[in-house]
Amino acid sequence: MEALIAVLPGDGIGPEVCTEGLRVLDAVADQYGHQFKCSEQLIGGAAIDATGNPFPADTRAACAESDAVILGAVGGPKWSDPNAPVRPEQGILALRANLEVFANIRPVKIIDALTDASPIKADRLGGVDIIVIRELTGGIYFGKKTRDENLASDLCIYERHEVERIIRVAARLAGERRGKLCSIDKANVLETSRFWRDVTVRTMEAEFPDIEIEHMLVDAAAMHLINRPATFDVMVTENMFGDILTDEASMLAGSMGMLPSASLGETRRGLYEPIHGSAPDIAGQGLANPCGMIASIAMMLRLSFGLDDESAAIEAAIDSTIEDGIRTADIAGVDHASTGTVGMTDAIIQRLH
Ligand code: NAD
Ligand code: IPM
Ligand code: MN
Repeated sequence: MEALIAVLPGDGIGPEVCTEGLRVLDAVADQYGHQFKCSEQLIGGAAIDATGNPFPADTRAACAESDAVILGAVGGPKWSDPNAPVRPEQGILALRANLEVFANIRPVKIIDALTDASPIKADRLGGVDIIVIRELTGGIYFGKKTRDENLASDLCIYERHEVERIIRVAARLAGERRGKLCSIDKANVLETSRFWRDVTVRTMEAEFPDIEIEHMLVDAAAMHLINRPATFDVMVTENMFGDILTDEASMLAGSMGMLPSASLGETRRGLYEPIHGSAPDIAGQGLANPCGMIASIAMMLRLSFGLDDESAAIEAAIDSTIEDGIRTADIAGVDHASTGTVGMTDAIIQRLH
């Protein structure tokens, strides 16, 4: 097949993991006879430096023309002054809103050989296979913000249709898996959460009577995720809770650097990004784990292009690389020598077949 991909490397380790992800994509294209045309564009801090805008018009236009978008990461100390007029992270939010990708799919799967890399005891990790569906274009991230010398506010808003459509995505997925959905909210305190729960109950009753629905408060969910992670299957939650819970859940898998994500709306054009950030502490040193990016590209092949075999081949290559003991520093643990971003990718490409 032929496809046009907008590639937004961003800042810090973003460009490092993007380069490696694209090497894997090239290897897949060669092996399976596909043509992926990539158009590299500015976003985040790099875009602020070049244009003053974290999501410039050229980037927006390239994304609109593309069949899928790959994003590295944005942000860093250079642009983190709390009084700066514009921030790199605004670029990501504008991108997500512009593409209308309201459903952020974050799988948390544990490769057995990596249980030693997690700070959680191995007996809790057996069978962990969770998919978090995070609402991505609403909530407190996108409500009105105010600030003056003595007061600041962020408004959290959800509209009925925004809750309904994300619950549908999650419930459909639950139907393909264990028939079980856990919705996370803070309905004991927040009005938006009581609304979320009410709309969820109605939508599930009317449209998904066969799916078992459980409601859980976010503080308890944060605890249960550590204590009994294997009991979760599909989790659905609002934007900020999903952000926080998936960073927490990444430690089940051993590292932030392992987790991929896909964001989809009503079309097949998806946005694919690892869940981690620009990791300023290790940027420029060739240490970043590229697996989250490479696994995000596997998600792109499956979800935007329908290339299931190619996607599975990448996932299998990541698994066998890890099983062979090849690790970046973040997942090396005590028993394994570590390699770098490039070495890890070389090993994955070698195992691609
Ligand atoms: P971070 O995710 O960048 O890093 C957190 C920790 O995880 C660091 O110790 C880092 O070294 C480690 N880490 C992250 N990715 C790794 C990888 N691939 N391999 C090995 N180790 C990895 O979070 P932070 O430090 O809180 O944020 C840094 C900047 O990144 C901030 O400006 C933040 O806004 C931004 N950020 C961007 C995104 C994104 O672009 N999607 C996501 C999260 C944070
Ligand atoms: C993520 C990041 C972003 C978010 C930031 C950088 C805007 O943390 O993708 O998880 O909070 O959504
Ligand atoms: Mn995050």
